[in-house]
Amino acid sequence: MLPSLPSHRPRRLRASAAIRDLTREHRLHPHDFIAPMFVMEGGGDSESIDSMPGIFRHSLAGLAEHARVLRDLGVRGIAVFPRIDAGLKDEMGGHFRDPDNLMLRAVRALKRGVPELAVFSDVALDPYTSHGHDGLLNAAGTDVDNDRTVIALCEMARMQADAGADFVAPSDMMDGRVRAIRETLDAAGHADTGILAYAAKFNSAFYGPFRDAVGSKRPAGYLDKSGYQLDPANAREALLEAALDEEEGADILMVKPAGPYLDLVRQLRDRTLLPLAVYQVSGEYAMLQAAAERGWLDARAAAMEQLLGFKRAGADIILTYWAEQAARWLR
Ligand code: PBG
Repeated sequence: MLPSLPSHRPRRLRASAAIRDLTREHRLHPHDFIAPMFVMEGGGDSESIDSMPGIFRHSLAGLAEHARVLRDLGVRGIAVFPRIDAGLKDEMGGHFRDPDNLMLRAVRALKRGVPELAVFSDVALDPYTSHGHDGLLNAAGTDVDNDRTVIALCEMARMQADAGADFVAPSDMMDGRVRAIRETLDAAGHADTGILAYAAKFNSAFYGPFRDAVGSKRPAGYLDKSGYQLDPANAREALLEAALDEEEGADILMVKPAGPYLDLVRQLRDRTLLPLAVYQVSGEYAMLQAAAERGWLDARAAAMEQLLGFKRAGADIILTYWAEQAARWLR
């Protein structure tokens, strides 16, 4: 006896490009992206970063120039990260208080040169500390001191807001920093400056290339941030962190890294009415580039599939090193 014919034929919806276009559930657009950008001292040419092919450290002038390219491609936001010269770093990261430090100059240059772009400035001490931690160490040097660090982060956020940042983006995972920063900004007349909270930031092995890019990698190699960044095993704790950041006044919540944590993107999407961002981090970018260089993957198809996956999981905003390329591919 012949098997009975299928009673349902979902393939009808895949039968032609027209029907596929009409029934597609998610689409990427350049407006989805925030491009992370690295800035360095000096007026020289952009420097390539070995572990991040296609990504550069820019001089101040180069940064603004490159930001214009991104703007013209339809990208709407930039996240700035400074590579501070080693000679300016110390245990306390005190250089962040220099009103003319590289980060503040970069924010001013971007807002002057490309005012249409939203600038998200990173709030954390790791670019400025000799030990590479995101905060100030306790007296024994064994852990980051939460409350002293929060005071420093508030100062940093205020200076970035003074420089013109549209949003400050605390990436440090200290307890209580979102409320403290919100109160500091409000008291300083910056009620309109937003907070993008790295709400669920995991202690991830995928940050290595970024630490090359900003020079926060220690000679000893491994930098243990497990005393403040989330344990990759913990989903409930990540949801709690995000709920606290929302309650403390965050305007946008973010999950970082992106790919290994899409379960949290989905769960957060179902729990919060705030915009949700993901950060596809340096290691996720580097992996794909490395495979593409060997001819093992098609970079364009694989990158676009990942980016689409973030949207399908529920992300509104994607911080990605693919921003420029993807915006070109989408034209
Ligand atoms: C630190 C910070 C890190 C990244 C952004 N901000 C790395 C870290 O925690 O050491 C990583 C981003 C990436 O890997 O692309 N405040």
